[in-house]
Amino acid sequence: MASHFRSAEQQGAVDDELNQLATPDSAPQVPAVSADDTGELLASDAVAPAPSVETPEAVHVVTAADPATVPADQPASESVYSSLSNDEAPVVSRTGTPTVSFKNVSLIYPAQPNKPALDDVSLDIYPGEFVFVVGHSGSGKSSLLRLITRELKASSGQVIVAGQDLTKMRNKKVPYLRRQIGTVYQDFKLLPDKTVYENVAFALECIGKPRSVVKAQVPEVLRLVGLGERMNHFPDQLSGGEQQRVSVARAMVNRPPLLVCDEPTGNLDPAISLGIMKLLDLINRNGTTVIMATHDREMVDSMRKRVIALEAGHVVRDQERGGYGYYGAL
Ligand SMILES: Nc1ncnc2c1ncn2[C@@H]1O[C@H](COP(=O)(O)OP(=O)(O)OP(=O)(O)O)[C@@H](O)[C@H]1O
Ligand SMILES: [Mg+2]
Repeated sequence: MASHFRSAEQQGAVDDELNQLATPDSAPQVPAVSADDTGELLASDAVAPAPSVETPEAVHVVTAADPATVPADQPASESVYSSLSNDEAPVVSRTGTPTVSFKNVSLIYPAQPNKPALDDVSLDIYPGEFVFVVGHSGSGKSSLLRLITRELKASSGQVIVAGQDLTKMRNKKVPYLRRQIGTVYQDFKLLPDKTVYENVAFALECIGKPRSVVKAQVPEVLRLVGLGERMNHFPDQLSGGEQQRVSVARAMVNRPPLLVCDEPTGNLDPAISLGIMKLLDLINRNGTTVIMATHDREMVDSMRKRVIALEAGHVVRDQERGGYGYYGAL
C-alpha cells in the first residue's frame, strides 16, 4: 500500500483525533428542524484544524461547454448548507502522490459497446480533498466511483488508487483495497435483520477484527454520528437520515482514508441532508478524502468544494471551489 495511505501508527493517531470529536450520547439526533435551521448537530466546534495547506494550482479551466459556474468572488448562496461553505477553509495541497489517479480511462459496458460510459478520463484527487462529482443522469458518475472501488475494471487506461494500478490488481487483493475505502450509497444498504450496532460491527467482523476492537470501535463511531442511544434499534425503526448515519458509521468504523459516496443524500430532504453533509465535512476536515456524486445543486453551490462535472462520459469541468453549473433538468 502506498505510503500516503495510513500505516498502523498513523491510523492510531487519526483514531485519537476522531475520538475527540465523538459527540456525547446526549447530543442532538438527526435534526427535527426546519429548512432554515442551520444549528449545529455535531460537535463541529471541536473540529480539529484542517491539514496544513499551500496555495493550489488551478485545477482546470472552465470550458465554454459549461459557462455557468459560481464566480469565485460571489458569496455562497443562502441555503441550509451555507454554514458548510468552503470559503474560509484552506485548500488542500496538491502535491505528492494522488489518492486517486485516472489516466486516460475509458469504460465500456458490454451491453453498450458503442457508447463508452467513460471516455478518456484523466484526473487526480489528492489526500484530504473533498470532491463533488456532478452531471446529468447517465453521465458516468457512478461508473467513475465504481472504478475507484474496483467494482468495475477500466476497459483502457489506468486507475491508480493508493499507488496501486487497479486495472492490474488481482481479484484476491481487492478486499484489501476495500478496507481502505469506505462507501456510502443512496439506499443505505443496511441489513434489515441486524441492529444498528450489529450492522456496523459486521463491517469489522468481515475483515477479521478481534471482538475487543469491535466492542471498542462500534459504540465510539456511533456516538460520533449521533446515534449512541440508538445502537439496539433496527433499521426500520429509524428515520432515513438516521439510517444514512448508520451507513456513514459503517463506512468510517475502520477509519478508511478514502470515502466514496454515491448520492448519499439522494433520498433525504434538505434539512436531513444537512446533518449528513456536516458529518461528511467533519470527517473530511479530519483528513479523510471524500469523493461524492450528487445531483444536489444547492448543496454544491453552497459548499464550494472542488467540482468535477461529467457529460456523456467526459470530464467537462474540474474546478476548485466550483458550483453545480447549468445542465437543465438533472
Ligand atoms: N451495468 C450496465 N450495463 C450497461 N450500461 C450501463 C450499466 N451501468 C451503467 N450503464 C450506462 O453507463 C452510462 C453511465 O451510467 P452511470 O450509472 O455511471 O451514470 P450516472 O451519472 O451515475 O447516472 P445517475 O445520475 O442516473 O445515477 C449510462 O449510459 C448507463 O446507461
Ligand atoms: Mg449514478
